[in-house]
Amino acid sequence: MPERARYTALDNGRVLAHGAGKAAGEGTMTAVPYQHILVETDGAVAIVRLNRPQALNALSNPLLREVAAALEGFDADDAIRAVVLTGDERAFAAGADIKEMAGAGAIEMLTRGRAEVWERLRKLRKPIIAAVNGYCLGGGNELAMVCDMIVAGEGARFGQPEINIGIIPGAGGTQRLTHALGKARAMELILTGRPFGAGEAFAAGLVTRVVPDEACLDEARALAREIAGKPPLAVQLAKDAILKAFDLSIEQGLDYERRNFFLLFASEDMREGMAAFIEKRKPHFVGK
Ligand code: CAA
Repeated sequence: MPERARYTALDNGRVLAHGAGKAAGEGTMTAVPYQHILVETDGAVAIVRLNRPQALNALSNPLLREVAAALEGFDADDAIRAVVLTGDERAFAAGADIKEMAGAGAIEMLTRGRAEVWERLRKLRKPIIAAVNGYCLGGGNELAMVCDMIVAGEGARFGQPEINIGIIPGAGGTQRLTHALGKARAMELILTGRPFGAGEAFAAGLVTRVVPDEACLDEARALAREIAGKPPLAVQLAKDAILKAFDLSIEQGLDYERRNFFLLFASEDMREGMAAFIEKRKPHFVGK
């Protein structure tokens, strides 16, 4: 059952959630009102929903900042081991908020601090699964790609349509789509802005699972729950090493992996995992 005790719905539809900067282990909760997202927890899994349906969850600055704050809050919360980020049945997110950007100049875009928010998302340590239904376009696709895995409903529509409004992807699309799909496909999709479906996204390796639309969130939640049952430090160091594969040479990457591997031999969970195997019992992982 989802636990909502720490996330109180207010009369005006806003939600109170724990503070974004809460350090792991701190006992106090700071009430932070969210206006553009909804958050809940289900055991060790947190669910963050974009909640701006009137704009197809377009990523306005306030919305994106709330997403970063909520995800950082869960990243620092020892009780949470995996996060699902989702939208609604019509849209995961239809991109950056075009109305917010339309009148901006280059220096204003530079100094809005939006790049820093994307960097905060990139630095999250816990696994994040995007559950995508409907439109997943432009910055929406970039948000899904900054997550660690994408579970898609079969009706999901992906794309980088920025070219159609005179710009290019500005939050990682040219890089992450190219890493995921290869140069030729990324080039075609970004230069034409052509939307593509969940089947094509799956075939190209962008998404990990395609399920019926109505099963998307449950599937992502089940995947998150499965990962939440694994030793948290090993999960985080595996994520860390996998992401390094995009930055490092194979030699540097193998060295990096080895260091994370050795580091886990300092963890209680490694002792527990191996002891449980030898004693033929289920392990109990504590994240230490
Ligand atoms: N920004 C702001 N508002 C948006 C939006 C966006 N990206 N996408 C949709 N909306 C708004 C619409 O303006 C509309 O609002 P109003 O009712 O007030 O007019 C509402 O959401 C519903 O949208 P539509 O009426 O357009 O719905 P539709 O079903 O006819 O079309 C759509 C859906 C094809 C997704 C269409 O809305 C669309 O093309 N949206 C823009 C997609 C896009 O270009 N995204 C990239 C943005 S740039 C970017 O993301 C840069 C980056 O890399 C960071």
